[in-house]
Amino acid sequence: MARQLHLNLFINSRGHHEASWRHPNSTPRVMTDIRYYQELAQKAEAGLFDSIFLADQLALADDIASAARTWLEPITALGALAVSTSHIGLIATASTTYTEPFNLARQFASLDHISGGRIGWNIVTSWMATAARNFGGTGQVSHADRYDRGEEFMQVVRALWDSWADDAILDDRDGGRYGRPDRIRPINHEGAHYRVAGPLNVPRSPQGRPVLVQAGSSDTGRAFAARHAEAVFTAHMEKATAQEFYADLKARVVAAGRRADQALILPGLSPMIASTEAEAQRLTRELNELTDPEVGRKRLSARFGGHDFSHLPLDKPLRPEDFPKSDAHEAARSRTEVIIGLVRREQPTLRQLLASLAGARGHFTFAGTPEQVADLMSEWFSDGAADGFNVMPPILPWMLDVFVAEVVPLLQRRGLFRTAYEGSTLRAHYGLDRPSVMR
Ligand SMILES: Cc1cc2nc3c(=O)[nH]c(=O)nc-3n(C[C@H](O)[C@H](O)[C@H](O)COP(=O)(O)O)c2cc1C
Repeated sequence: MARQLHLNLFINSRGHHEASWRHPNSTPRVMTDIRYYQELAQKAEAGLFDSIFLADQLALADDIASAARTWLEPITALGALAVSTSHIGLIATASTTYTEPFNLARQFASLDHISGGRIGWNIVTSWMATAARNFGGTGQVSHADRYDRGEEFMQVVRALWDSWADDAILDDRDGGRYGRPDRIRPINHEGAHYRVAGPLNVPRSPQGRPVLVQAGSSDTGRAFAARHAEAVFTAHMEKATAQEFYADLKARVVAAGRRADQALILPGLSPMIASTEAEAQRLTRELNELTDPEVGRKRLSARFGGHDFSHLPLDKPLRPEDFPKSDAHEAARSRTEVIIGLVRREQPTLRQLLASLAGARGHFTFAGTPEQVADLMSEWFSDGAADGFNVMPPILPWMLDVFVAEVVPLLQRRGLFRTAYEGSTLRAHYGLDRPSVMR
């Protein structure tokens, strides 16, 4: 069969546009109502999406006065989504810096059982400086230390998931034999950060291991993705940098001894869709007018590790020198490079930069007709920029409904997207191998 697109729905607030929570067409539900997430997952499932994804941060943002930044803890939420959907993959974010590997391995193994093999874990090292203060720390764990710890964390969780063979449970009532201790092994891990005896106390899950998803984009982050990630989320504001990322990451995956098709690359795409391009642009302008530049200024500061941008005037063209260098802070390096790249190319004013980041925080935004969206997706797909997309509707659920009704059928007609689910696990949707088991 010809190569096909993979689609993930990234669920965020009432949409990915900063001002979506104020828009009359976004959901009336509160952000802590599980029915909102259930309805979105069901809509994405009706549109035959591969998966949905929930992001997470471990501290309250400081702009709660004027931004809708509340949500449900993702691992907990996936438990509810697992029982209200039947096919779609479900991906939750969890941190390697602020979790214990034993807890995380059993939570995700349990979710994989509950969902019948549809779970993915978005591995993050947590870039927000304020998170450290909620976990006994005073300052942020450095970028290098976070990845160092993350690497060992991965060794431990993989070993825990692999500590059970598929046939370790007999459940033989007549013979009086329940488990086979010879098929369940301790891991006896002793490293710089973790000491974990194992084995896990949850049997091997339907997918063997949950699908590993990652979004690191710095050099260290890409090296980590090459070793571990089976799907990679990434943010680009132009096709050329997406192509560079795609070629680099696939080469690193192969150099790490893996097949290139075992690591899908899914750039973010935030499409505003209407029957004419002018109408789509009008909708974008309408949303931009609802944004508060001071919310954007705070977000920009958080992105750059707390750097102070308060002295910059809103309406003067920016220069790259207005920003700290990427290696001068410990937050998420790659996104700051995306932002500085945009400033270098286009010299926007701060107000213009904040408006373009308000659309989808540095991901690709696009306003156009369903045909134009489908054209763009098929171009990125065939030009070596993407294996599919992390779809980030600017307004939810409205723009998801439009995408499913108008864009999905076009992709199907072009033979680029499935017309029915063929498998029942996330590994099957993504075309990923099931990891081989013990012995
Ligand atoms: C689509 C997408 C979603 C992400 N979601 C989260 C998240 O939920 N929590 C988080 O702490 N970081 C998240 N990140 C940030 C990445 O984990 C990573 O830190 C960032 O891309 C920078 O890469 P680096 O850590 O290699 O510098 C996300 C990144 C992308 C592109």
